[in-house]
Amino acid sequence: MGSKLFSYFSFPFLLGLYLFSFISPFPSAYSQLDYRFYDRSCPGLSNIVRYGVWAAYKNDTRIAASLLRLHFHDCFVNGCDASVLLDDTDDFKGEKNAFPNRNSARGYEVIDNIKADVERFCPSTVSCVDILTLAAREAVVLAGGPFWQVMLGRRDGITASQQAANEQLPSPFEPLENITAKFTSKGLDLKDVVVLSGAHTIGYAQCFTFKSRLYNFQGSGKPDPTLDSSAFKSLQSMCPNTDSSNSNLAPLDSTAYRFDTTYYTNLVSKTGLLESDQALTRDPKTAAMVNSYSTNSYLFWNDFTTSMAKLGNLGVLTGDKGQIRKKCGSVNL
Ligand code: HEM
Ligand SMILES: *[C@@H]1O[C@H](CO)[C@@H](O)[C@H](O)[C@H]1NC(C)=O
Ligand SMILES: *[C@@H]1O[C@H](CO)[C@@H](O)[C@H](O)[C@H]1NC(C)=O
Repeated sequence: MGSKLFSYFSFPFLLGLYLFSFISPFPSAYSQLDYRFYDRSCPGLSNIVRYGVWAAYKNDTRIAASLLRLHFHDCFVNGCDASVLLDDTDDFKGEKNAFPNRNSARGYEVIDNIKADVERFCPSTVSCVDILTLAAREAVVLAGGPFWQVMLGRRDGITASQQAANEQLPSPFEPLENITAKFTSKGLDLKDVVVLSGAHTIGYAQCFTFKSRLYNFQGSGKPDPTLDSSAFKSLQSMCPNTDSSNSNLAPLDSTAYRFDTTYYTNLVSKTGLLESDQALTRDPKTAAMVNSYSTNSYLFWNDFTTSMAKLGNLGVLTGDKGQIRKKCGSVNL
């Protein structure tokens, strides 16, 4: 009798609990990210971000690449927390002046401007890190790449570390094993290395980041023998062998404004720009992936959106951690 009653009542009860867990109106304090996080508190958010990125892109097409990279540099150093946007203070030296960012990272003003617009409509509601994450997505879409749904609800960090940025960001001068180790230490894997490196389908690099391949490959005093000879000539003319060419720009792939699979076809034809890019064709495992992406844009699209979602979820602050900054360049007083 007792057990019969139990089974009679428990099913609807458990079903109710089960449904409740999906339709709960309370954003729980330790909630994970949520696609609809700002649906009520800032319904215009994605349009404001889309407009801000579009306006910046109309003026400067390269900004799409710069925003995508800024998001990567944020997430890869102590998680996605907009720490990359913080100016140095008396308390800490931030990431802006770390070696990979100084005179290199761009797009800070674009995020600051979008944040100012968002504050006008939804004051103290939307984090800088969510704005940067959405802006990176809009940038990829504007450059002709795939759209993906972005989870929201990240909160802004209250500190930043120049040393962490120097230590944790990948360098174009280190071998694939080291780069892969940096990715795996974040919970990303070898496939993410290959897929996310595909972001180099847009944007530019300064000559100093690959010049040794032209004039003194691995201390040989000679060019990198694996670099295609016509690519070599054109890079030589962009980057003459003098220090004054160090900050000249070269396109990361042959269609630097187009989010396409040309990055991978360039690697296959030995015209990758950075040594760390071309290295993906030397390891058999990564070379196989490079080959498939070079001929299958659907596969690249699909895997890129998956890896970007992983990147955007690294080390996020939610619930009552962190804060919602009023200005992206400084923590709230
Ligand atoms: C895998 C290791 C990586 C290395 C070693 C690397 C290195 C670099 C370097 C040296 C530059 C040129 C910077 C300059 O000359 O000022 C650059 C540019 C860029 N990187 Fe990476 N990167 C890596 C991964 C990524 C990832 C994962 C993303 C994004 C998901 C990304 C997005 C970009 C973009 C879009 C640019 C062009 C930026 C612009 O034109 O403003 N990179 N990267
Ligand atoms: C337009 O882009 C250039 C860089 O190409 C930048 O220096 C300038 O501030 C931008 N202007 C506006 C209004 O965003
Ligand atoms: C690669 O990583 C090893 C082990 O951490 C380190 O000793 C070496 O200096 C790194 N190489 C480069 C070029 O950064």
